[in-house]
Amino acid sequence: MKKILVTGASGFVGRAFTARWQYEYKLLTPSHSELDITDAASVDAYMMAHTPDVVLHLAALSNTWHCEQHPDESFLVNVVGSENVARAAARYGAKFVFFSSDQVYNGNSEQGPLSEDVPVRPVNHYGRHKLEAEQRIAEISLSAVMLRATWMYDAPQPAAPHADFVNNMLNAVKEGNALTLPVREYRGITWVRDVVNNLPLAFSLQGGVYNFGSGNNVNTYETACCFYEMLYGGDASRIVTPDYERYAPACRNLSMDTDKIFRASGGGICFPSTIDGLRLFVEMVTVKG
Ligand SMILES: NC(=O)c1ccc[n+]([C@@H]2O[C@H](COP(=O)([O-])OP(=O)(O)OC[C@H]3O[C@@H](n4cnc5c(N)ncnc54)[C@H](OP(=O)(O)O)[C@@H]3O)[C@@H](O)[C@H]2O)c1
Repeated sequence: MKKILVTGASGFVGRAFTARWQYEYKLLTPSHSELDITDAASVDAYMMAHTPDVVLHLAALSNTWHCEQHPDESFLVNVVGSENVARAAARYGAKFVFFSSDQVYNGNSEQGPLSEDVPVRPVNHYGRHKLEAEQRIAEISLSAVMLRATWMYDAPQPAAPHADFVNNMLNAVKEGNALTLPVREYRGITWVRDVVNNLPLAFSLQGGVYNFGSGNNVNTYETACCFYEMLYGGDASRIVTPDYERYAPACRNLSMDTDKIFRASGGGICFPSTIDGLRLFVEMVTVKG
């Protein structure tokens, strides 16, 4: 049975991954206090003691707003911490799989799905730090797999509320507060189930950067209208209103092309479009309350 160290296992993606794969793999899931990734010596000692086959590195400061307010903390965890884990994984022969983010594209305004080789110019600390982590990891290990993930959602979990697209929409409906959403933004949004189902195939990819999540050719306002219609039918205008100013005069485009990972995995790793993913989610999960 493959041994996988999951950093950040108590987080949103970590919980979904461990719930899905706990019987197929031997999972090592140290808490933040058991393994602080900013402490290089502890990370090295942990890796030496446990010698995992794969390190799935999910530990991060993932809240972009928090990172914008606390750039030094973001740098320490998202860059230096990631570097510490990558270095220890390389030293003890573990395959390193890192979660980067589509926020590396948040300064891009080209139209259409973005491939991994498009020049990026992230405009916030979180995006810049994810990009810097990718670059430092690539220098440490040629076999490291770096996955640029989209914003992810799951069914609402009262014990661990998560600020994702689905929760934001359901809360808006519950509280009767309209969401104002940008017409000039294109971004993929992915069901975390699709992310964790695809992850084991990513463990055997060649090293490099890969886009990893649902694409979207529909803007964020329209995506919300479609989702509302799937859930409740009818007109979404009471709950979703268009914002024509945000990101004007250009568009913000984070929507990713996943052809590279599809081909590299022999067609194994694929994601539905954002709209198809939401449709499947609505068919399979009871969320209306
Ligand atoms: N969620 C998304 O929509 C999304 C989108 C794109 C990319 N990503 C990336 O995907 C990865 C997983 O995201 P997520 O949503 O699961 O994040 P999350 O819910 O915020 O969880 C982060 C995890 O990291 C741990 N952690 C934070 N600082 C640490 C440290 N110094 N040492 C050890 N552990 C530490 C946290 O533990 P404590 O809570 O105990 O501190 C928690 O378990 C991250 O790299 C994130 O940037 C997420």
